[in-house]
Amino acid sequence: MIKIEDNVDLLPLNTFGLKGTARRLVTYTEPEDLNDLFANGTDKWLIGKMCHAGGGSNLLFMGDYDGTILKSGIKGIEILPSSDDDRILVRAGSGVMMDDLCTDMASRGFWGTENLSGIPGQVGAAAVQNIGAYGVEIAELIERMEVYDTVNRTSDAFTADECGYGYRTSIFKRPPLKGRYIVTAVTLRLSALPHPRLSYGHLAVRVSAFPTPGEVRREVIAMRDSKLPDWHEYGNAGSYFKNVETDTAVYDRICAMVAPDLVPSYRLTDGRIKIPTAWFIERCGWKGRQHGGAAVWEKQPLVIVNATGNATADDIAELEKEIIRSVHDRFSVTIEPEVEKISTRI
Ligand code: EPU
Repeated sequence: MIKIEDNVDLLPLNTFGLKGTARRLVTYTEPEDLNDLFANGTDKWLIGKMCHAGGGSNLLFMGDYDGTILKSGIKGIEILPSSDDDRILVRAGSGVMMDDLCTDMASRGFWGTENLSGIPGQVGAAAVQNIGAYGVEIAELIERMEVYDTVNRTSDAFTADECGYGYRTSIFKRPPLKGRYIVTAVTLRLSALPHPRLSYGHLAVRVSAFPTPGEVRREVIAMRDSKLPDWHEYGNAGSYFKNVETDTAVYDRICAMVAPDLVPSYRLTDGRIKIPTAWFIERCGWKGRQHGGAAVWEKQPLVIVNATGNATADDIAELEKEIIRSVHDRFSVTIEPEVEKISTRI
């Protein structure tokens, strides 16, 4: 079913709690709907620019959206037949909420998604941006991505290797393919056998010796709740910035700058070093600071919140700019936003 609504409220379409209007919202509930929308041209329904919102948990609308927002309403979680307990294939519609999938998998005792518990947004968007938390990235679980190709106007599918995954990125987020494919379903490879992933932080000591996926899920949610603001209360998009991935020369330079203090870091498999952007932002004194209605979250400065409920997109974008500038001035490191800005005008 295709639903077309005009002059819709942006509030339910973004977790920043920003007010505004979108000229048109097109929601589809079946993969075939995309063929109906695209196969014979888009003139009948597309007004202005088009963007896809997958729960709005990573988007910053820079004002009213004078165009058409597409949104997946494709639901359904299906366990595909398998004779191997260590390889449970689960297919979810792109419009399923990621945390509903995590709840369902934990309640069935399937391992894989428990560390990704509590992340807002839809499954399709989660797979496109390779969400990650507590030592797990969704890319590790992906078996297959089903998509609609808006150029060839046909259904297609990708393996995880073909998705070109990296830290918070995939081919679907990068030129030249950005915007070409619309995800309709994601198949994850989970396991009914115990595969706890407890290496992140204090997760291992917070759970019992033989935890269930449900227990790990509960602890992950408790850890998230202790650091991250609930977007229903203080609008936010999770981490506003990506962590810094850099080479050893930059890392050594920063270590020398702050010695005898230590620089938190993780070595990546390719030899580069990841430095938490939260550390840079904290060192520059941004924790808790406010700009207009926007503020840097005190307990996790990677997060920018709509502190007053009345923040504007400009408040948030200006705060972003100031933070980037001050980290650059102090450390000569350019931090990058993870949040995608959606511009207003056609
Ligand atoms: N840190 C500080 N000051 C702080 C907080 C953190 O210096 O106030 C430093 C500490 O060294 C800490 C390190 O940052 O050990 C890492 O902090 P944290 O464990 O909170 O994780 P993160 O790297 O800041 C990433 C993800 C989060 C995810 C957490 C947990 C990104 C951009 N963010 O944050 O993902 O929940 O790890 O796995 O990679 C999101 O993407 O929206 C998101 C919330």
